[in-house]
Amino acid sequence: MRITLRVWRQADRNSPGGLKTYQLTDVDSSMSFLEMLDLLNEELTARDEEPVAFDNDCREGICGMCGIVINGAPHGRYNSPVATTTCQLHMRSFHDGDVIDIEPWKAGAFPVIKDLVVDRSAFDRIIQAGGYISVNTGAAPEAHSTPAPKRQADQAFDNATCIGCGACVAACPNGAGMLFTAAKITHLARLPQGQPERLRRVKAMVAAHDEAGFGGCTNIGECAAVCPKSIPLASIGQLNRDLIHSLFTGEGK
Ligand code: FES
Repeated sequence: MRITLRVWRQADRNSPGGLKTYQLTDVDSSMSFLEMLDLLNEELTARDEEPVAFDNDCREGICGMCGIVINGAPHGRYNSPVATTTCQLHMRSFHDGDVIDIEPWKAGAFPVIKDLVVDRSAFDRIIQAGGYISVNTGAAPEAHSTPAPKRQADQAFDNATCIGCGACVAACPNGAGMLFTAAKITHLARLPQGQPERLRRVKAMVAAHDEAGFGGCTNIGECAAVCPKSIPLASIGQLNRDLIHSLFTGEGK
């Protein structure tokens, strides 16, 4: 396949960036999108040009590192028939002669570090604010001693699949990180182990979200539409219910 790429190049956080055009003439349809970028970088290196910086690690859809906006959609969601991460998107989703725009996540809370790499440490700060449970150290307790109803366990697990890639933020016109925050809150709110700190957790994590510069949620739903793990918009409802409960009752201080 012959592919034309228009790739965002930006030297560093403080430099202006722009799209630069590259041609690839030997793209195999069985390549993953990242393998196609590897091919581009091999050609750039052979020409003594600076390779394109992009984040990746597992290349199996589980680490959340590979965030790229492809043709205007995080992870190329609208080029794929199913929810996907960039590393699980394959070139068979494109056609010979296609022009593909490749950009970094675009959000105020995710400043560009270089080319397609953004600083997602704002997510770490949200987790540090409350995305955990406090337990005494010692041997792991017997799992069956803390029974969780099947439906709640399933909801917790569905939300625990969030890989923190940031696609929800990149897709949101408000630059909100609410689906990510809601997934982490709902994961713990649906389990017995998450109850003691539940209301304190939601207040602290939402405060950290706002402090990091993310926008507010206005229920547009683009986040859930592009989420590679199909985290439901309903999780934001759980967050809002817990937050309102906390604010109106004064619990969770
Ligand atoms: S590289 Fe790990 S999810 Fe894509």
